[in-house]
Amino acid sequence: MHIRRAVATDAEAIASVIAESFAAYQTAYTPAAFTATTPRPNQIERRLHEGPMWVAVQRATIVGTLSAVPQDALLYLRSLAVLPMARGQGIGRGLMEQAEQFAVAHAVTRLVLSTTPFLAHAIQLYTQLGFQTSTDGPYDLFGTPLLTMVKPVVPVIETPRASTV
Ligand SMILES: CC(C)(COP(=O)(O)OP(=O)(O)OC[C@H]1O[C@@H](n2cnc3c(N)ncnc32)[C@H](O)[C@@H]1OP(=O)(O)O)[C@@H](O)C(=O)NCCC(=O)NCCS
Repeated sequence: MHIRRAVATDAEAIASVIAESFAAYQTAYTPAAFTATTPRPNQIERRLHEGPMWVAVQRATIVGTLSAVPQDALLYLRSLAVLPMARGQGIGRGLMEQAEQFAVAHAVTRLVLSTTPFLAHAIQLYTQLGFQTSTDGPYDLFGTPLLTMVKPVVPVIETPRASTV
């Protein structure tokens, strides 16, 4: 498995990974919220102009994805998805780590994301990675409850090499 930045020709595969990954939760969303959560390929292509997007590739097939939107000093993360058949191998964690590396390199101070209370595996992953629940909104996506989670980004401080003289 390797993770790389997405390109426009990945849009269709990314849209199907998201649709397949969220399918099991469809009944927990309102219809409008599910539509907003599962963007079409043309919406994915537009998102590529809004910020970085990553794909996880296993045996030449896209099995996972994550998008980000820089907003001043924040990096807003969205559409984390890993195909059911590829779960439990660290792919979701790897995608989140890519976003965090991007944040460190671009002087971002906080990672922010919206999830829903019923996405328990995602919430467990975010919590393990150091995200905390915030009281900030938004609280609702077309009638489906939202939960905001945030993580401060710790800048990497270069320590000068100790002199041997
Ligand atoms: C959430 C999701 C992206 C995790 O992807 P993944 O590649 O399976 O995740 P990883 O293998 O990196 O697992 C990382 C952590 O996620 C949690 N997790 C993943 N699968 C889990 C499961 N079946 N049961 C409980 N926790 C689980 C655990 O905390 C796990 O850490 P651990 O392995 O140290 O216990 C994937 O389950 C998914 O696509 N879910 C549906 C869409 C979704 O919820 N997206 C998030 C939108 S906010």
